[in-house]
Formats: sequence, C-alpha cells, structure tokens
Amino acid sequence: MSGSLRGRLLWWLLLPLALFVAVSGALSYQNMQETADLLQDNALLSSVRVIGEDIDWDNGNIVVQIPPAALELFESPEQDNVFYRVEGTQHRLLAGNPDLRLPAGLSSVPVFYTTTLDDGRRVRAVAYVRQLFDSGRTEEVTVAVAKTQRSRDAMVTRLWHPQLIRLFLMLVLAMSLVYLGLTFELRPLMKLKDDVADRGPLQLEPIRAENLHFELRPIVDAINQCISRMSQQTATQRQFISDAAHQLRTPLTLLDAQIQFARQRGGHDEPLSDALTSMHTSSRKMTTLTNKLLLLAQAESVTPSGVQDQVDLTMVIAGVLEQLIVLAQKRDIDLGAELEEDLIVIGDEALTTALVTNLVDNALRYTQPGGCVTVTAQRDEDRVILRVVDNGPGISAEARSRAFERFYRASSDTEGTGLGLAIVREIAYRQGGTVALAAGAGGIGLVVTVELRTGREETRTVDKTLRSEA
Ligand SMILES: Nc1ncnc2c1ncn2[C@@H]1O[C@H](COP(=O)(O)OP(=O)(O)O)[C@@H](O)[C@H]1O
Ligand SMILES: [Mg+2]
Repeated sequence: MSGSLRGRLLWWLLLPLALFVAVSGALSYQNMQETADLLQDNALLSSVRVIGEDIDWDNGNIVVQIPPAALELFESPEQDNVFYRVEGTQHRLLAGNPDLRLPAGLSSVPVFYTTTLDDGRRVRAVAYVRQLFDSGRTEEVTVAVAKTQRSRDAMVTRLWHPQLIRLFLMLVLAMSLVYLGLTFELRPLMKLKDDVADRGPLQLEPIRAENLHFELRPIVDAINQCISRMSQQTATQRQFISDAAHQLRTPLTLLDAQIQFARQRGGHDEPLSDALTSMHTSSRKMTTLTNKLLLLAQAESVTPSGVQDQVDLTMVIAGVLEQLIVLAQKRDIDLGAELEEDLIVIGDEALTTALVTNLVDNALRYTQPGGCVTVTAQRDEDRVILRVVDNGPGISAEARSRAFERFYRASSDTEGTGLGLAIVREIAYRQGGTVALAAGAGGIGLVVTVELRTGREETRTVDKTLRSEA
C-alpha cells in the first residue's frame, strides 16, 4: 500500500474517533430528548392540576375557571399554542377546545399522550378525571391540557448543540495532537530518507542509526549491509582494473622496444616496414589506453573526504603548458594562460596534473590549426575556477551531455580513447569539485569550467600572463 505513512496512520485514528463521536452524539441526542420530554410533561401535569383544582360547584352548577397561572407555565420565546378541554358527564363540554381528543378509559391517574388536532398540529397532552361531590351528587369532570412541541424541540437543540460542538472540538484537538506527534516521531525517518536520497554515488559509508526507533534499525542494518556489499564490489573492480593496467604496462613497453628494434633492422623491406609502423601505432594506442585506465582507477580510489593534500594549481598549469607547448606549436595553435598566482587547491598533484593535461590536450587536438587555446584560473571565495577555452568546433549540446561517459567520442576523425573527459570528471568529483562544459562566446568553441576547493588562505593575488606565440 503506497501513500504517506502519516496520512494512513491519521486515517486509521480518524476512523474510530469519528465513530466514537457519532455514537456519543446520537446517545446524547436521545438523552436531551428524554430530559426535554420530562420537563414538558411536568409542566403539563402542573397545569392540568391547577385547572382541575379550580373547578367547583356554584348553585348546583359546575363552574370552570381557568386560572392564568395554569397557562403561564408554558410561556416561552417559542410561543407554543396551548389547548385545554374540560368535560362533564356524557361528554358535555364545559370549557375549552372540542378539537382536543381524549383517550378512552381515563381515571384519576393522569395519562400523557400525543395526539393531532383537526388542523394537523401535533400536540403533547395530559388528561385525568376529577370527582366533584356536592350534597349527595357526584359529577365526573375530565380535564385535559395540551401544547404544541416548539419549545420542547428548541430545548433539545439548545442542550444538544453545545455537546456536539464539544465532541467535534475534541476530535479536532485529538487529530492535531496526533498529527504533531507523528510529525515529531517521523523526523528521524525523514532524516534517514534525506540521508539516503542525498547520497552521491561515491558516498558508500554506512548510515548511522543512533537516533532511530528500534523498529527501524533492521531496515537500516539491511541498507548498510547492501551498501557495504556495493562498496566491496566497486573496490574489487577498481583493484582489478588497476592491477590489469599495471600488468599490461611492462609487456607493452617491451613490445614497443621490440617493434622499434625490428623497424631499424627491416628498414629495406617496404611491406614489412609498413606492417611494423602500424604495429607501432597500435602498441602506442594500447599504451595510451592502459595509462588512461590506470589513471581512471587511481582517480576512483580517492574519496572527497579523503583528500587532504594541497597543490599549487598555478604551478601545475604552468608545468602542463610547458609540456604541451610542443604540441601547440606543431598544430600551429596559440596557447596562452591568464593565471592568478599561488592558487592552492585541495587535491593530489598527479591527479590534478592529469586533469589539466587532459583538458588542454583535448583543446589542442580538436581545435583547427591557427586556433587559440587559453587557460584561465582564478579564485572565487572558497573555490578556484579553472577554465580551458578554445575556438575550435566545440561539442554540440546533445553530445555535451554524453561527453563525460567512458569511451564516448563525438567524432572518430582524430585518435583517442574517449576516456579523457571521464578521467577529468572523476578527478574533479573525487577532489570535491565539479566540471561543466559549455559553448564558447558566440557559440564558437568549447569552454570547460572546473571548480576545485581552495586550500590554505591566500590573500596575495598577482596577475601573471603566460603566452607563447606558435
Ligand atoms: N575541446 C574540444 N573541442 C571539441 N570537441 C571536444 C573537445 N574536447 C573533447 N571533445 C569531444 O569530446 C569527446 C570526448 O573527449 P575525451 O573524453 O577527451 O576523449 P578523446 O579525446 O579520447 O576522444 C572527444 O572525442 C571529442 O569529440
Ligand atoms: Mg581527450
């Protein structure tokens, strides 16, 4: 079952609570009705008694007087209609309303009943029989009083509504408290979720479970076991690539030397010489590939939190430019740099050198003769920003998103392994930095931006411009 855990728990709580409120509301409604009925019946009884007691003989005739007090009992804002009926023997109407029906078999014990008047109004009524004695004569007088139910209904509402509101408020309060409680209690779980969700592919350290409820510990343990298996697996793989690359280097160097030797010896035989030349090219390619694989494996064994070394990026760039100036001249490219001095970054020297080399090498290789390649580096708060800018063909937006993939090559015109940018990204990430590709000004060329973390505090900034004319 999907959805929010909090939502579902609240729902399970709301269900029984709502049921409780409904049952409790219905019971209290019944209760209020009984109370209102009792009060109404009491008023009716008092009224019928007052009227009954006031009936008397006067010169042998029965006189009925309705005392105002008998009717005042029913005064209320709802203004109920009150009816009475006083009857002598043989149903002789002495006073009141003949519409008010009397039940059969009345006695001196008052009887309550509900009836309908001729005009359809429902009324609650009480009736009893009173014996009147006068000099040997007995007359039976039946007295009935009735009233409409408006004030009684109003009373039920008046009594019941506050009760209902109280119940409802209790429900809302209970739900709010539970919601708060759940939010509070689910916080460690949400933190755990964020911890797992925010992890980069390199963060393979176990999740900490100290603040978690013990019910959640098994889940965290299972995740941690999974993470540990993954991290072991990647370590094994990395080690294998590193070992393989290392093992390949020696035979490759040997092979290269032997090819060189064979070329010198077989110089007169043209087909053999051609074969040896292409063998030499192949062995060079394999050497490059092996070196790049080794470099990648080295970069992968670093974790951002593990790098503590600091390197002078300015020096690294200057060194790389010195190495590559030959390639620049050979390709007739204007290679220049604008560097701030003493740019100290956190990172490994060999890896940082490989990063810069790969970027400048790419720029020199892919830019057409006569082009221009510029390396800039400057500090920006706690980062150092390195840019390699060229005015070559650039990389299309679509290919840019794939350029960092291993073995991806946008074109096969030039030689390459497709590992250069993958290595650059790996090194940048592993040293806690980032790398991004963008088109140059006016959509011409490529701008590679690398951000690295700065090392020790440096305030001195001197602009130094290196430029070599090819
Ligand atoms: N400065 C650049 N200008 C144009 N294209 C580039 C540049 N740098 C890299 N590329 C493209 O990105 C691809 C991947 O580069 P990289 O990973 O270094 O592999 P490789 O250089 O071995 O082909 C290259 O094949 C190339 O097509
Ligand atoms: Mg390359």
